[in-house]
Amino acid sequence: MIKIYDDVFHLTDGKFSYAFFVRGGKLIHSYFGRAVKCDETSLAGSVIADGKNENTGADAALFEFPEQGRCDFRAPCIAAETDKTISTDFRYKGYEILSSKPDFGMPALRYGGETLAVRLYDDVLGAELSLYYTVYDGGLARRAELKNCSKEPVRLNKFLSACADFPQGNYDLINICGRWGAEFNPVRSAATQGVKTFCSSRGVTSHQHNPFVCAVKPDTSEEAGDAYGFNLIYSGNFTVECELDEKSQLRINLGATLGGIVLQPSEVFSTPEAVLVYSHGGIGGMSRKFHALFNNYLINPAFANKPRPVVLNSWESCYFDFDEKKLFKFIDDAGNLGIDMIVLDDGWFGKRNSDTCSLGDWFVNRQKLPSGLKAVSERCKARGMQFGIWFEPEAISPVSELFKKHPEWALHVEGREGAQMRNQLALDFSLSEVVDYIYGAMAEIIEECSPAYIKWDMNRPLSDISSPHKYVGFVKGMYSLYERLTENYPQVLIEGCSSGGGRFDAGILYYSPLIWTSDDTDAYRRAKIQYGASLVYPLQTLSNHVSVCPNHQTGRTLPFKTRGAVASLGCLGYELDVGKLTKEEREQVKEQIKDYKKSAALILKGDLFRLASPYEGGGAFCEEVVSKDKSQAYVVYVRGLVEPNLPLPRIHLRGLEENALYRVEERGAQVFGSDLMYGGLRPQPECCDFGAEILHITKIA
Ligand code: DGJ
Repeated sequence: MIKIYDDVFHLTDGKFSYAFFVRGGKLIHSYFGRAVKCDETSLAGSVIADGKNENTGADAALFEFPEQGRCDFRAPCIAAETDKTISTDFRYKGYEILSSKPDFGMPALRYGGETLAVRLYDDVLGAELSLYYTVYDGGLARRAELKNCSKEPVRLNKFLSACADFPQGNYDLINICGRWGAEFNPVRSAATQGVKTFCSSRGVTSHQHNPFVCAVKPDTSEEAGDAYGFNLIYSGNFTVECELDEKSQLRINLGATLGGIVLQPSEVFSTPEAVLVYSHGGIGGMSRKFHALFNNYLINPAFANKPRPVVLNSWESCYFDFDEKKLFKFIDDAGNLGIDMIVLDDGWFGKRNSDTCSLGDWFVNRQKLPSGLKAVSERCKARGMQFGIWFEPEAISPVSELFKKHPEWALHVEGREGAQMRNQLALDFSLSEVVDYIYGAMAEIIEECSPAYIKWDMNRPLSDISSPHKYVGFVKGMYSLYERLTENYPQVLIEGCSSGGGRFDAGILYYSPLIWTSDDTDAYRRAKIQYGASLVYPLQTLSNHVSVCPNHQTGRTLPFKTRGAVASLGCLGYELDVGKLTKEEREQVKEQIKDYKKSAALILKGDLFRLASPYEGGGAFCEEVVSKDKSQAYVVYVRGLVEPNLPLPRIHLRGLEENALYRVEERGAQVFGSDLMYGGLRPQPECCDFGAEILHITKIA
């Protein structure tokens, strides 16, 4: 709901409030937090508007969209430049309430209703700045748009999506960082005077940082206290800046890093959308808000909140080493286990027998697969499964037919040889002819073998950039390919991937309802990764596979049950040669899948409670998913290393009805919600390192 009284703007869903007002032509931010009335009665006496009468200097004021060069010396959201000036002075001109959220050509939360557009103008720059706000049930979507109304070009050195200025106080920051095979480590640190920046300059989101930050009070815990979450719906270079000033006021800015793109006269540039959420239910409460927003408003509605197929992916069992005979056996062995989809990973095209060649040559390798992909797809169908296929659309190998024909299609700087990573280059997706060609090549394969699933990989951060426009152009080109594929092949489920979780962001989730969370399939390490990812991203977006032991990434051996239990917290799949499993393991696969399918609706749609953090104490991991009506819960517990003669600490369930009676299936017990939550349960995992326990809990009265 958008309420406006006397130049005070109050945006609220009834649970959070966000407010700012106009003072001296400037937008002053006044409140973000638990819902307040902020109506005509309380306005004059409330801090939300009485700042209108204060005359805080620019150096200390809380701004709605801070600028460079006008006596606010903290990090700005906009830094624009012409021949005349490197400062801006946008003044309030008015506002409009739009009946629905305007489409601005980039992924954003869907179904946006009433949208507030605040217009500001800088006479010297000759530019109009519009700030857009849409309230969702559970959060606020924000973005900014600049129109160059002058006759001169304007260079945008910085133009972020959103800012939140917090009043004086003590704050902690939580960000997510990592590396290949170890994404999504949550880091909590005290905000101290200065600027802390989390960013990517890799052209893609990156394994290193995620476009997310959460500000909390020092006493905020997993389940209680104020938590303010920020996330960007974008898949390229980004900046998240957190500045604590000398008065202990915290500023959080976030948006795409533009690095000097030029806006020609009459041109309009929109930032990507940022999503802001507030919860007084702690960090877990913030996560549940993001999950609900993304499940209901971001993910492609054709797949949102629906069961995902149980996939068997060929990568870890075959890598590049397969032919038709081996692949057919791989498919045959998977029949009758409950697997829904065989996904043929890298290696099926061009001359691709290693990672040294053929990216861009999207035609089947007839030496490996003489009967073609259609035969592979039909083999899957004949065994009662669907077929999925891997692409890396944005990549090109210097050793490829495509590169021979179109070396200029790789991102490059004239006169310089392109730097290589994993023996490959990135295509220049800012060029529509490149995207058109790749679309055509993919469409031909799709027509040939009718896959129900595509794994879209991206293993190449961008380098050899000739202009800052290439970065944004690349991301927009990539989104346009997604648009065409999802529009023309709406039945195809596209799994995102980028060397694991290197491009796990809300921009990709708009098109890909699930993303391969990490190349690390070691269930213990993976539990940590999934735990961190779940700070922002819902379980229905986490693609997780059970793989063989010793694990290919860590060499560790974990119980089969643990591997299944961890993978079940999201979209369950397998990444092993089922033909090599023992009879007992095959039975376990069957059981795991049967059990998963029984609980999948609950796991994918329920509320997530993180009960034990693998980053703390003895390293135990415990997550619980509770159905929206509180009638069912699914709990996965994984212990750390076994400690002799030390009972495992109790876990306290959450989110149940205190007075309802629940059956804990595995314990054969009937227990009240209050007892499960406040009394707790002693975990009973297998007695070995990383042993797991799974609990199914159902309300009976
Ligand atoms: C990186 C992905 O993360 C893997 O799962 C696999 O698809 C390989 N690329 C294939 O090259």
